[in-house]
Amino acid sequence: MDLTTVLIIAVFIVGAVFIYNMYSNQSKGKTASGDAYSSSSDSDSDEEEEKIEEREFTLEELHTYNGVESSTNPNKKIYVSVLGKIFDVTGSGFYGPNETYDMFAGHESSVALAKNELKPSLLDQLDISSLGAFEKDNLYGMYNHFEMKYRVVGWLKEWEDMNKKDK
Ligand code: HEM
Repeated sequence: MDLTTVLIIAVFIVGAVFIYNMYSNQSKGKTASGDAYSSSSDSDSDEEEEKIEEREFTLEELHTYNGVESSTNPNKKIYVSVLGKIFDVTGSGFYGPNETYDMFAGHESSVALAKNELKPSLLDQLDISSLGAFEKDNLYGMYNHFEMKYRVVGWLKEWEDMNKKDK
């Protein structure tokens, strides 16, 4: 093997490693952030997300996190509350405008999930005491699903006020 061949092989290997690193950093960022709406680079948004602390939201505040751009929600975030726990469901493909479950975006959704009905009148209901056993099973099943799948960003003030004495 002469020197030229060795150099060509070396340049090829360095190039391949460089391209591999670029590609794997990109996909790592996407999986971890899971945020299809984020416009900044994925690794930046990972760092941002790690710093976010859970906090209290009022119902009025929660309503602004419905995937529609506004002064209070410039990044079109989508939050859904289940049993008063607020999940970031941004980019899931279910809750964005005109997506299957967009009704839930920015709302406390427990009663609708318990009854398995897509009725806006069932949103933001804080009293679950009249749900039957089957409905409660549905609800806890969905809650577990959300817990497994989504990041928690906080809790709903009105839910805590209404239900905390029962906990
Ligand atoms: C014909 C009726 C329905 C069918 C065939 C259906 C089908 C599905 C399927 C296949 C998924 C899983 C999607 C996935 O993980 O990729 C799903 C998730 C879900 N469904 Fe339905 N569904 C129906 C009715 C409803 C109703 C009435 C509600 C209202 C409470 C509802 C609420 C949800 C929710 C909240 C999720 C979880 C989405 C997530 O992972 O964030 N579904 N449904």
